[in-house]
Order: sequence, then structure tokens, then C-alpha cells
Amino acid sequence: MISAGRLALSLAFASSALAANIQAPNIRLPRSATANRAAVEQIFTESYAAYKKFAFGHDDLLPLSQSFTDGRNGWGATIVDAMSTMHIMGLDDLFLEAVNFSSHIDFSKSQTPDTVSVFETTIRYLGGLLSAFELSGQKFPILLEKAKEVGDKLAFAWVGSNDVPFGEIVFATNTPQIATSNIAEAGTLTLEFETLTKHTGNQTYADLALKSVRHIANLTAPLPGLAAQGIDPTSGEFVGGYVTWGGGSDSYFEYLIKHARLSNTNDNIFADTWHTAVDSSIKNLLRTSTVGNHLYLADFDDSRTIRHIGSHLACFYGGNWLMGGRLLNNQTIVDIALQLVDACWNTYAGDATGIGPEAFAYISTDGNFTGGDSPSADQLAFYAEHGYYITASDYIQRPEVLESNFYAFRVTGDSKYLDRAASAVASFNKFLKTDSGFAGLNDVNNVNGGLIDDNESFWFAEVMKYLYLTFDDPNHISLDSFVFNTEAHPFVAPPAKPVYGSPQSILPPPTKPFQLKKGAPLPAISPNPRLPKPIPVPPQS
Ligand SMILES: *[C@@H]1O[C@H](CO)[C@@H](O)[C@H](O)[C@H]1NC(C)=O
Ligand SMILES: *[C@@H]1O[C@H](CO)[C@@H](O)[C@H](O)[C@H]1NC(C)=O
Ligand SMILES: *[C@@H]1O[C@H](CO)[C@@H](O)[C@H](O)[C@H]1NC(C)=O
Ligand SMILES: *[C@@H]1O[C@H](CO)[C@@H](O)[C@H](O)[C@H]1NC(C)=O
Ligand SMILES: *[C@@H]1O[C@H](CO)[C@@H](O)[C@H](O)[C@H]1NC(C)=O
Ligand SMILES: *[C@@H]1O[C@H](CO)[C@@H](O)[C@H](O)[C@H]1NC(C)=O
Repeated sequence: MISAGRLALSLAFASSALAANIQAPNIRLPRSATANRAAVEQIFTESYAAYKKFAFGHDDLLPLSQSFTDGRNGWGATIVDAMSTMHIMGLDDLFLEAVNFSSHIDFSKSQTPDTVSVFETTIRYLGGLLSAFELSGQKFPILLEKAKEVGDKLAFAWVGSNDVPFGEIVFATNTPQIATSNIAEAGTLTLEFETLTKHTGNQTYADLALKSVRHIANLTAPLPGLAAQGIDPTSGEFVGGYVTWGGGSDSYFEYLIKHARLSNTNDNIFADTWHTAVDSSIKNLLRTSTVGNHLYLADFDDSRTIRHIGSHLACFYGGNWLMGGRLLNNQTIVDIALQLVDACWNTYAGDATGIGPEAFAYISTDGNFTGGDSPSADQLAFYAEHGYYITASDYIQRPEVLESNFYAFRVTGDSKYLDRAASAVASFNKFLKTDSGFAGLNDVNNVNGGLIDDNESFWFAEVMKYLYLTFDDPNHISLDSFVFNTEAHPFVAPPAKPVYGSPQSILPPPTKPFQLKKGAPLPAISPNPRLPKPIPVPPQS
């Protein structure tokens, strides 16, 4: 069925002697791509027009109440987050307006009483400013100045001799706030900080971000290469032993390979740790559903028990494994990644709206433990038909499934991924559209389930960009010339090395076994939309 894709893939491998390229060569776009690309641009411009009308200068639009919120410190998150997408879509007037707005942002303090999240501010504001600076050919030095302003504030998150930064800072007083963090927050800073270093010549930024990642990679993990989710910046130790590719851990793994690619470093610790994590996931976390043979990566909890769960957030893994598999020139990883992409897409295809849920679960031959309730009769009936069942039914405009679909198209050239993206565009137009922008969904499996007054800037930064680029000339923002940050802001990458990682790129097992340490509980994470809803802890037996 995917013979065209496989052919493209083998051709790509033939040319990989010189550089570890990610994209298939000579991808042909069908005629329909032009109309689909225009349809995505239309959704973007309608969404942004509503933002301008009801929320301009604030962080986010509330499409149902025709109002705004300031959950990202009131610096105009949507404007900064949308800038790279505007540039890519060629929306020059909107881009210039956004550059002008950004040049007036006051990063000396939060515009709301909130503390500032180091992670969210890095990926959205710092990433958005630097990407816009690069995409516009460095024509607007003010974008770099603003990036430096934020970067200098974020540098206060490293307290004393700690390798790992605190999670939050009060900008007005430069005071770090939260002493516990997680590996996603502490390990998703390298691409942005090293790009800031590249353009300012100040090595401190890159050094700060890199010492945090090196520290995490050097700790004994619950499973080889698979760092635990919680970390205490003060002790430098893991908090608990929860392993997941989902929220709270996700982009630490994502950035291991992306940093290796963006920097072309000869220090193989990053690519090798990534491969060790992938290898260990194949051996320990990979599960096949008893219905439909869908392939998922399970979670592994503090009591070293597999949880048969998945999430929209975690579905970035297919795209990330495709990227890393190509960079390591490892077809095994690429093949598994394509199956992971299919299984995540299946969580869209099986729902009444054609849009995927926030969280789901499945059953494999080794059981059905989720850490929460056993599947209900309704869930089992749904599972029997689809090979997954829904455990959190909302859609809050997350990108990951369509992000991985974009990677799959660029890696294989197989038009089935264009069909999937087109299906998502149709569902968005049918189910998310309001008189004032696009909203989220309460229940992806109920066409009358109602809308969420949603307000996340990643709709503009990520969903719109990945969809648009899926239908665009594959040489525009090629995966062989740019590395996307976790908020989909592309950074200019040097030409690829022949291969990434060392020849024996799986690291030897640690000398000391992993030990669960008691520590401070994880920080209150509920307001952080990048993190999943807390998973109920099973009763102690
Ligand atoms: C979204 O809106 C809710 C209230 O409607 C608010 O609590 C939350 O902070 C907002 N999130 C962002 C990112 O603005
Ligand atoms: C530039 O931004 C400032 C402050 O946000 C605003 O007052 C001004 O009207 C903007 N100019 C243009 C041309 O958009
Ligand atoms: C480099 O950046 C760090 C972190 O903000 C700052 O403390 C330092 O003064 C900067 N160095 C130079 C030479 O500007
Ligand atoms: C790695 O951890 C060991 C202790 O387990 C320590 O001795 C060593 O200095 C660490 N290396 C780095 C680069 O942090
Ligand atoms: C590719 O990766 C898989 C999974 O880690 C590993 O088992 C295999 O040995 C690797 N293949 C090569 C050629 O390195
Ligand atoms: C779920 O797991 C429990 C405990 O192992 C088992 O008794 C039950 O039959 C399983 N249910 C399904 C639908 O597999």
C-alpha cells in the first residue's frame, strides 16, 4: 500500500552517503495540495483576525467569550508565537505588525502577577523571536535584542552551582521560584539558548542549557536512557521514577537529537543518549493493541509497572523517531516510527469528529493497567472497534499528531499523509469554527459535545504551520535545512553530518542500579497546558 513511500525512502538512503538527510528526494505534490494549503492559510487568517479584534496585545483569544486571557505573562504570546508562521505563509503585513509589536514588549517584568515559566517563555517567546529573526534574514536586529533581553532574565533560573534550572522566576526581582522541576522543563532549552549564543557571541546561554541536559543524561535512569520525569534542581536528583514520552518528559528526549543536529556537535552523548532511550523504549515500552495491532509507547511508573496509556502530547514521538532514525541512518527506528505515526493518526480517524483526544488507553497481551479506572463497558465497546479507548475526550488545539504526520510525509513522500492532513483541515472547519476564531472541543467523539473557550498560542505556532508546510513545496523549510523547536519555530541548521552518534551508539548500562529516592513532590503543574492531567496514583497494596 505504501510502495511509493518505500521507493522514495530507499532512494533517500542511496543519497545518504554524503549527509544524513531526513527528507525523501523529489517529492511530488498533487494538484490538490495548493487548495489545501490555501484552506490552512484561511483558517490561520480567520483565527488571527479574531485575535486582533478581541485580544490584540494580550496573550490569547477566548473565541467563545470574544475576550482574552493573559496566561503567558501578558507579553502578547499569540503575536510572538504566530510570527514565524506568518513569515512562512508570506503574510508580510501581519509579520511587520508583529515585529513592531514585539519591539515594544517590556520583558523587565511580567505584565501579570504570575511568575514566569522558564520553559514556556523559552519555547514561545525566545524561540519565536529568534526564529523570526533568522527567517527574515536578520533584517530586524530588534528581534535579537528582545531575545537577549528575555535570555538574560531566564539565566537567573540557575541558582548557585546548580546544573539544573529552577522552573519559574519572578522577573521583576530576578528571583527563582520553584525548586522542583521536570526533565521537559529543564531539558528543553538547548536549541533556543544555543541560537541566542550563535547570534550574540555570548557562550553563557548555550553553556547553561547544555549543563542541565548533560546532568540529566548522566543520572542513573529507571530504564537505560529513559530519565525519570521529576527532578529537583537543588539536589540534582530525580524525584520519583516515572518514565514517559508524554508531558513532563517529552521534549527532553526530543531535544537530545535535535540539539545534536542543530549544533553538529562531535560530542556524541546527546545522539547516543537519544538512541539509548529509543532502544530501551523498543525493548520495554512498545506495546501492540490486541485489537488492530496498533503500536504505542506505554508509560512505566514508580512501581516499575507498565501503564497502557497514550496522549496527544506523546504523539510527537513518531515524528521525532523518524527524524532521529534518519540521522542515525537506522531503518529499524524509521520503520517503527511509521507505525507509531499510524497508531496516533488512528486516534483521530476513529472519532466522530475526526479529531483526536487528549488522552487514551489500550490493551495489550500483558494487560490493561492504566494507573486509573479499568475500562468501562462503553470504553471496551469502543476499543473493540478502534484499538484504543478515550480517557480524556477534549481537544485543546494540540499539534503533535499532525506534527508527526508532517514528518512522515516529508520522510516518505507518501500521499496518504496528505489525505490525513486534509481530513484534519475539513474537521477543523466543520467542528471548531466559530464567529470569532477557532475553538477547542469538549468531546472529540460527540459532534454535539460543545466547544471549549480555548486560548493557546500553539494553534498559530504549531498546528497551522505543520499543516501548511505539509501541503507546501517540500524544499520550503526543508527538514534538512531547519530544526524545529518544540513550539514549531524553525532554526537554521548547518548542512548535516554523514551520520549522528557513535558507531556503538547505545550506551553501556549504568554501573549502579536505579534507586527510587524520596523527595519533594512534583510542583503544582495544573496550569501548564503542556503537561497532561495528573494521572491518578493506584492505591498502595
Ligand atoms: C486560558 O484561559 C483560562 C481561563 O479561561 C486561564 O485560566 C488560563 O491561564 C488561560 N491560558 C493561557 C495560556 O492564557
Ligand atoms: C507599532 O507599535 C506601537 C506599540 O505597540 C503602536 O503604537 C504603533 O501603532 C505600531 N505601528 C505600526 C505601524 O503598526
Ligand atoms: C553573557 O550572558 C550572561 C547571562 O545573561 C551575562 O551574565 C553575561 O554578562 C554576558 N556576558 C557578556 C560578555 O555580555
Ligand atoms: C556523572 O555522574 C558521576 C557520578 O555518578 C560524576 O562523578 C560525574 O562527574 C558526572 N559527570 C558529569 C559530566 O556530570
Ligand atoms: C538500529 O536501532 C535498533 C534499535 O535501537 C538497534 O537494535 C539496531 O542495532 C540499530 N541498527 C544499526 C544498524 O545500528
Ligand atoms: C484487565 O486486566 C484485569 C487484571 O489483569 C483482568 O482481570 C481483565 O480481564 C482485563 N480486562 C480486559 C478487557 O482485558
